[in-house]
Amino acid sequence: MLVTGIEILSKAHKEGYGVGAFNFVNFEMLRAIFEAADGAKSPLIVQASEGAIKYLGIDMVLSMVYTMAKRYTHIPVALHLDHGTSFESCKKAVDAGFTSVMIDASHHPYQENLEITKEVVDYAHSKGVSVEAELGRLMGIEDNISVSEKDAVLVNPNEAEEFVKLSKVDYLAPAIGTSHGAFKFKGEPKLDFDRLVEVKKRTNIPLVLHGASSIPESVRQAFLSTGGDLKGGKGVPFDFIEQSIKGGINKVNIDTDLRLAFIAQVRKMAKEQPSEFDLRKYFNPGIEAVKAVMIERMRVLGSADKI
Ligand code: G3H
Ligand code: 13P
Ligand code: ZN
Repeated sequence: MLVTGIEILSKAHKEGYGVGAFNFVNFEMLRAIFEAADGAKSPLIVQASEGAIKYLGIDMVLSMVYTMAKRYTHIPVALHLDHGTSFESCKKAVDAGFTSVMIDASHHPYQENLEITKEVVDYAHSKGVSVEAELGRLMGIEDNISVSEKDAVLVNPNEAEEFVKLSKVDYLAPAIGTSHGAFKFKGEPKLDFDRLVEVKKRTNIPLVLHGASSIPESVRQAFLSTGGDLKGGKGVPFDFIEQSIKGGINKVNIDTDLRLAFIAQVRKMAKEQPSEFDLRKYFNPGIEAVKAVMIERMRVLGSADKI
């Protein structure tokens, strides 16, 4: 059943668990995501980036998600716009039927981020749609980073408190040292958990962790064993994810792990059965691999068995 983002996340916030927000760019990924949520009995957030919307067409995004939500009426699912870059982009998603949007104006100065976010919140709330915003910049932090460098990049808890109060945003993504993709940390993984705890204390709303793929060993090995190149690839370890949830994270954004898991199976098929050209024989193992990754992750997040 399609619900708003805040409906899913306020429960997670009250009960202290995380809900995966999984990106998709095609039907196979979406099917894997729904089947995994069904298997794990987990609430779900599915998210489409502006790139995914461009690739599929917004009408196709809506049709696919609404069809799957009808097929799995027992799963509460929110359809979220990932990293909306403007008011217009968020408005289009709201008007089309998304139940949650992210306005990512974090690269603008604080005041401008606040103004754009307020505009999106006013519009989205008038249509019953939830809103996520971001503070700070998504990038890895290292051991030898100075306090002032850290302050320039990561979320400022004072700003977070004021931002939430003034914008009335439903959930906030505070930058605490993660980054997108498969190469998150140059040295040992490091996140600023103290800062996260402080932001949670000051805002008391659901918080979002972007760049939360873990690249677990099984995913890495599956990718490498078919000739994939992942030199220096590093994700957010499971214990960091657990600690983030203890610190107040409730929405956990995952894309890279699903991409790696799916593509490894396509590569495997191409390598082992070079004469095969039935698309389904490539995609079905990919779907199964993505499901396995997701079910394991929903247990780590604590969202399994919540429906
Ligand atoms: O945050 C980015 C997501 O992983 C989506 O990436 O813009 O390549 O669709 P994309
Ligand atoms: P990953 O690249 O770590 O999967 O992060 C995805 C994300 O944050 C989407 O918004
Ligand atoms: Zn992101």
